[in-house]
Amino acid sequence: MIGTVRHALALAVLCMILAGAGLARAEGFPNGKALYGKNCAVCHGADGSVSEYGKHLKPFPARNLRAMAQWLDADEFRRIITYGLHNSEMTAKKYTLNPLEIEAVIRYIKTFTFRPKPGMGKKRYMQVCAVCHGRDGRARTGLGAKNLVYSKLDMKGLIHTIRLGRPGTMMTPKFNQISSPDIVNIAAYIYSLRYKANGQRGAMLFRKNCASCHTTPGHIRLTGNAGLQSTMNRLNANQLELRLRYGRHAHLADKSVSKLSSDNIHDIMAYIREWTSKK
Ligand code: HEC
Ligand code: HEC
Ligand code: HEC
Repeated sequence: MIGTVRHALALAVLCMILAGAGLARAEGFPNGKALYGKNCAVCHGADGSVSEYGKHLKPFPARNLRAMAQWLDADEFRRIITYGLHNSEMTAKKYTLNPLEIEAVIRYIKTFTFRPKPGMGKKRYMQVCAVCHGRDGRARTGLGAKNLVYSKLDMKGLIHTIRLGRPGTMMTPKFNQISSPDIVNIAAYIYSLRYKANGQRGAMLFRKNCASCHTTPGHIRLTGNAGLQSTMNRLNANQLELRLRYGRHAHLADKSVSKLSSDNIHDIMAYIREWTSKK
């Protein structure tokens, strides 16, 4: 009996100590909203969508943190805030904020939300990107740009590529040319252009164009080295398209096969994927 009371007492004391420590930690974690208001709002605006003052900074205006909040990783925020951005009013904050305060500011920025507007994105896309990527995103411009309709990048990947470009290619960084809301809007527009492969359509195309020689997808044999090292399952749609159009297969299969559109090949690929995943 006395033992239990003692236990209960000890437990109560332990709980109090733990609760106290928890409280101390909560008090110790800096207030991100207040820090943001004091150190960032003058340029980035109280709600993150740039102040009047921030809009007129030279050589580059302050950027809209609201638009980017969900699409930049905390790592990237940390780097930019700690070290600043070269040749701009975005100076390194590591002399004014300690690492914990920077984390608190990032957490606060991460509460900002922004709804992309693909319609606005389309307008900017036509102005800036269509010249290389084509008005339909399929890049049939002869300039070597990528077909965006089959891109595998997710929203983060698209935004990353638009911001920083691809070094050594004509895809130059667009960071200073396009505002953050427009970058997100354009990415949302590109995403909406994506071709949605349809396995059922693929099954029909397979019956019509392939089944005369390959009874089912399981009957397709990869030739040459590919046959030793890979399987149909591991070929992506681009590799399949190359094999169909230019591979050993080309001279064996019917002319109609080489005339299939890329969309059709993506449908057939989707069918093959569904078929093999069921086996
Ligand atoms: C004196 C004005 C000013 C202050 C104060 C300021 N910034 Fe900036 N910030 C800028 C400017 C200007 C840029 C854009 C620089 C460029 O385009 O190269 C920028 C860019 C950024 C970016 C990059 C956004 C993107 O889309 O890549 C982040 C993140 C950022 N600031 C965070 C902060 C945070 C957090 C604070 C407060 C701790 C802060 N800034 C304080 C002016 C400021
Ligand atoms: C001067 C021509 C040119 C312009 C203008 C251009 N791009 Fe590109 N883009 C390219 C090239 C070339 C590549 C391929 C780079 C490579 O080899 O990785 C590319 C690649 C990309 C990719 C990567 C796609 C993937 O799946 O890997 C995206 C996304 C992209 N561009 C978006 C845009 C957007 C959005 C714009 C307009 C804001 C734009 N590009 C403007 C030439 C251009
Ligand atoms: C006229 C007959 C014929 C038709 C039609 C045909 N193929 Fe083939 N295909 C072949 C032959 C023969 C090979 C060589 C490998 C083998 O013997 O199975 C082959 C090989 C392949 C390969 C492997 C290519 C390589 O380089 O390893 C793929 C992938 C393939 N076919 C897919 C298809 C698809 C998808 C279709 C329909 C769009 C199709 N084939 C239509 C006869 C045909």
